[in-house]
Amino acid sequence: MEKELDWGNLSFGYIPTDYNVRCYYRNGQWGEIEVSSSETINIHIAATALHYGQEIFEGLKAFRGKDGKVRIFRLEENAKRIIESAKGIKMQPIPVELFTEMVKKVVKLNERFVPPYGSGASLYIRPLEIGTSAQVGVKPSQEYLFLILVTPVGPYFKEGFRPTNICIMREFDRVAPKGTGRWKVGGNYAASLDAGERAHSMGYSAVLYLDPKEKKYLDECGPANFFAIKDGKYITPASESILPSITNMTLQQLAQDMGLEVERRHITLEELEEIQEAAACGTAAVASPIAEIDDIDTGKKYVIAKDGNPGPVTTALYNKLRAIQLGEEEDIHSWNTIVE
Ligand code: PLP
Ligand code: COI
Repeated sequence: MEKELDWGNLSFGYIPTDYNVRCYYRNGQWGEIEVSSSETINIHIAATALHYGQEIFEGLKAFRGKDGKVRIFRLEENAKRIIESAKGIKMQPIPVELFTEMVKKVVKLNERFVPPYGSGASLYIRPLEIGTSAQVGVKPSQEYLFLILVTPVGPYFKEGFRPTNICIMREFDRVAPKGTGRWKVGGNYAASLDAGERAHSMGYSAVLYLDPKEKKYLDECGPANFFAIKDGKYITPASESILPSITNMTLQQLAQDMGLEVERRHITLEELEEIQEAAACGTAAVASPIAEIDDIDTGKKYVIAKDGNPGPVTTALYNKLRAIQLGEEEDIHSWNTIVE
């Protein structure tokens, strides 16, 4: 690096690193892993990714621990989820072993970009698969490119672990009731851009989507799942139109470990009157506390963090998650992969 990065003040953006790794699926098989220092790809003008949105991705993080070691969090779960996304939009699934090997390799190659312990930053790992063969009819590609880039990141919401306001806008859905919401498909994010930008322009950090069928239940919170703490219980929406968040799965386990009951079920909008804490959770969002949820259509405001501070349970969960990721606490569930 020409000049040292300001690790403690990184935002969630793209910073070039030394290498990315690539693998092509051609003639019915995955090829050799290629290491590249180019930030561009060469792609056919009729590739299915460009025309029909055959694109899926993942997001996971590597952390520099207290002991100096680099830990990748929940690598295997991400490997499993991208297989589901691939099947969902008729793309070639990436074998778990290939995904795992490539993630470890790209982190190792870019080890100098793993932010130092104590900086609060991490190395974001972005695996991406695209359909590359020329197809003008609406058909799945025959060939695929799977690549992984990494970039050092700070907090997703600029407020970090400070509660922010979010909003509900019935005018928008990001996914259909039986659509692609359960997979990490690029098109879902395109469908969320207009609502997201409107919410940002009104000072909200994210949109809380309602279920797209009945608009009765909470679904998820922009690029993150939603959870709430209600009378000592961890409650989180059960829905077939949301991404099964690995962070949410992790926090549910940690909540159980702390003696909380966990409920995955429908949560109505009205129930927001009865909760004590709420947060958006995800790899990028970690556990971002929610101060207030404003229903734009009705004008109703649900004030959650009444004193403006993160709640005690959200804080405890956040601290526990961080401590495991940073190797400060024993990884009793074997969630970390140490990069050798
Ligand atoms: N929901 C959506 C739509 C997301 O993009 C993400 C981010 O990956 C999440 C939820 C959180 O998932 P995870 O905790 O696996 O990162
Ligand atoms: C993540 O949390 O990894 C995400 O993918 C969210 C967003 C940056 C798309």
